[in-house]
Amino acid sequence: MTRTFSSRFADLLGIRYPIVQEGLGPYKTVRLAAAVSEAGGLGTVSMPGMTDPDGPKVLRGYIEECCALTDRPFAVNVPVGKDSTGTVLPFSAAYVGAVVDAVRDPEIARRLRMITTSAGAPGVVRDLIAGSGLIHAHKVGGTRQAVRAQADGVDVIVASGYEAGGHTHSRPVHTMVLGPSVCAAVDVPVVLAGGIHDGAGVAAALALGADAVALGTRFVASHDNTDWHPAYAQKIIDTAEGDDVVFAAVYGPSRALNTPALAELAVLEETLDVAALTAWKDDRLIRGQRDGEMEAGILPAGNVSGAITDLIHVAEFVPALVEEAIAVLEGLAGRVRATTEERNP
Ligand SMILES: Cc1cc2nc3c(=O)[nH]c(=O)nc-3n(C[C@H](O)[C@H](O)[C@H](O)COP(=O)(O)O)c2cc1C
Repeated sequence: MTRTFSSRFADLLGIRYPIVQEGLGPYKTVRLAAAVSEAGGLGTVSMPGMTDPDGPKVLRGYIEECCALTDRPFAVNVPVGKDSTGTVLPFSAAYVGAVVDAVRDPEIARRLRMITTSAGAPGVVRDLIAGSGLIHAHKVGGTRQAVRAQADGVDVIVASGYEAGGHTHSRPVHTMVLGPSVCAAVDVPVVLAGGIHDGAGVAAALALGADAVALGTRFVASHDNTDWHPAYAQKIIDTAEGDDVVFAAVYGPSRALNTPALAELAVLEETLDVAALTAWKDDRLIRGQRDGEMEAGILPAGNVSGAITDLIHVAEFVPALVEEAIAVLEGLAGRVRATTEERNP
């Protein structure tokens, strides 16, 4: 039996390892989520996108599919942000309703334990979730948002630093600064995300006060990837340190690999209206992530891409990540003792 460490988050969820695979929409990530949960972490099923009128029904299908693949706890992610005009995303409430409805089935409720809302304020959907039996996590990029989310009644804060892949935050606060600040400001368990890919990162997150870690980009570059084109996963591996940028995506700033598509976008931003730009970005995201067009496509991914050098097998990766973190912490304890010795008696 591999080792793990105690964690309020793992106890709350009933999982062995406090390792979360985060929402990676609009790709369903059902197989990936089941693989992470089977490995002892917490997988997350992602939502199908914000424009499909049948989306809530599709999401229910994803949830049932995940239940067929694992008996272990898993989560669902629903962004509840606002669009560029300030309107709350129209499908957010419908998606949250579909998740709440799903856990009325006791067989689903046994496995679907957590909903992670992201992007906006959780208060918008808090009343829908309260009383459902679901653990409510909300993702934030700042300490004030974390305090507000706790006051709104959420059970868990996911604090994600600016280096995170995909939609990031309008104010650039990185994981190393955000982690201790959020952990000191709230009492509920904190899951730290953004830039984590190895045991040293997990050990650092624990030292910053986190109860668990969440990874996104690392799980895209995986043998368990059935959602994205393999060239996209390979591109994450090939990306050099610092070859990622933040651009104005459809729902705010987003971090992606620095492909030629983003240079094209910078020119188009001068001429196209909002609707045409949105259509262009949606098309280029699909061409990059689904179709594997590495030049023309937009490829959301984190700053951590520069440190990722291989494809992982999830079943081995999750326990190994925790074991590596424990080894790092034990090694540190040894180093701390060594430096307290008298050097010049
Ligand atoms: C391809 C991709 C898609 C993402 N989609 C979502 C999403 O639908 N909802 C969400 O809350 N976050 C989304 N994120 C952010 C992740 O959930 C997570 O917070 C982030 O990847 C963590 O940082 P890391 O990439 O450095 O591990 C996405 C990230 C990536 C890389």
